[in-house]
Amino acid sequence: MARFTSLFRKKSVDKIIADSATHEQSHSLLRILGVRDLVSLGVAAIIGAGIFSTIGRASFEGGPAVALLFVFTAIACIFTALCYAQFASTVPVSGSAYTYAYVAFGELAAWIIGWALILEYAVSNMVVAISWSEYFVSMLGGFGIKFPGWLSMNPGSAYQAWEKLQVSGETSLSVIEKTAAAAYQAAPSLAGFKIVFDLPAGIITFLVTWLCYIGIRESRNASNIMVVLKVGVVLLVIVAGAFFVKPENWSPFAPNGINGVLKGVAAVFFAYIGFDSISTTAEECKNPQTDMPRAMIYTLLICTVLYILIALVLTGMVSYKELLVDDPLAFVFQQVGFDFMAGVISVSAVIAITSALLVYQLGQPRIWMAMSRDGLLWKKFSTIHPRYKTPGFATIMTGLLVGIPALFFDMGFFVDLTSVGTFFAFILVCCGVLYMDHSGISEKSKFRVPRVNGQFVIGISFLVAIGYTIFSGSFADIVAERPLMLAFWAAWLLLSVLGYRHKFSLLPVMGILTNLYLMTELGASNWIIFLIWLLIGLGIYLMYGYKNSKLAGTNSSR
Ligand code: ALA
Repeated sequence: MARFTSLFRKKSVDKIIADSATHEQSHSLLRILGVRDLVSLGVAAIIGAGIFSTIGRASFEGGPAVALLFVFTAIACIFTALCYAQFASTVPVSGSAYTYAYVAFGELAAWIIGWALILEYAVSNMVVAISWSEYFVSMLGGFGIKFPGWLSMNPGSAYQAWEKLQVSGETSLSVIEKTAAAAYQAAPSLAGFKIVFDLPAGIITFLVTWLCYIGIRESRNASNIMVVLKVGVVLLVIVAGAFFVKPENWSPFAPNGINGVLKGVAAVFFAYIGFDSISTTAEECKNPQTDMPRAMIYTLLICTVLYILIALVLTGMVSYKELLVDDPLAFVFQQVGFDFMAGVISVSAVIAITSALLVYQLGQPRIWMAMSRDGLLWKKFSTIHPRYKTPGFATIMTGLLVGIPALFFDMGFFVDLTSVGTFFAFILVCCGVLYMDHSGISEKSKFRVPRVNGQFVIGISFLVAIGYTIFSGSFADIVAERPLMLAFWAAWLLLSVLGYRHKFSLLPVMGILTNLYLMTELGASNWIIFLIWLLIGLGIYLMYGYKNSKLAGTNSSR
């Protein structure tokens, strides 16, 4: 029994704050960041492969209506951002969701979150690296340099396109599939296997990892410059693209119906990932309790407006059917014959995406470092390079973890995996706020999620929603089509009961439900892969972290 309860041993808020104060490096952290800096950091982390690449796939599936999906996803993110802000003001140290879970739910949950955050940071960076490669090749093309196709794509997509060519002929292939099939045909063979891989994605990961290893740090000014560049490219596409919009491309607005739009959930959500990284700067923020929530909301609003406009411009410039490409922002300008603009966008995108890669490549080793300091990962992960003063080993491991898969796999797979892991982390953070309210920790929070009493609303809205679904005759169809909706309904029911008993605050519950709803859109196979991922993590925890935790043998409580 004692063994079982120790899985839930917690760090107290006071202890975390005391530990952070004694931490060697915290002496050098300056409280200099204001709202503007935080917004700038947030935009730097958010705008990346999502808006430069995955939006293409989402638009291909959903058509122009994907712009509405950006609105709905932003709402889910705003509820979550408020919860992050409350945690950041309560536990103003740098470990983000990992540390929050340690406070709210104990060690096992903290480990699980830390493990899920690998998906948010490292796996998302595989997408960013692949996106970088697409724009890099497109940029070279603009200079008249043709980079070999077999050295710049994943083998799976190349083979599938080639197979489709054999079966259905050239006319059935999209532009991108024709390029992929040609690349496969041109690839050299070794022992009967075609050699196809994404060399630029591997090289850029190697270079960025090397920079992180030798100690490059994002300074406030560098981040501001990078944000200006990114927002500049996005605005350029919106303004220049507006001249090429043909309103007839917006009709039909949702060519594949609501299901088509919802197929874009992972890609659209991916574009928002990163606003939570603002919370990691809580120790360097002048007024975390007021600035943090404002900065997160402003960041999300800015990105939402930009994303909606971009989605409308892309789908207005060319038919949504053409948008299954990984460099859509440059691609649409090529399609309308404005090659110069396509070139400008490719060059700027290459720089802008490099900076996104850097942000996450710096973040991942630092999360591992925090986990290693708590004894949940091997000590090696927190060793600091004597000369460069960076977590050297963890940085190299991040480079290998990101770089090798980026050479060989399709972007879509990683987008789904990242999204499922990040939704999970977001849901736990929202649950954590309910726990903080319940246990009284919220009393210590300098910022609290605005309280709307959900005691009756959660249950009544559940009854209305389920009643409507059943009486309209769509319940069986929904469950047959998307069995994961059962998990959603079950969670809503549970929250209704608990919410009634404990007078739950409404907004965190809305955060849980909106995130969970979007998560059900990712499909069972992604949930299964994610569960396998969690089981592997659990195995590592039981074999190592459980025994070596700094809290092992102590009486920890909240
Ligand atoms: N939101 C980040 C991006 O789009 C992950 O690259």
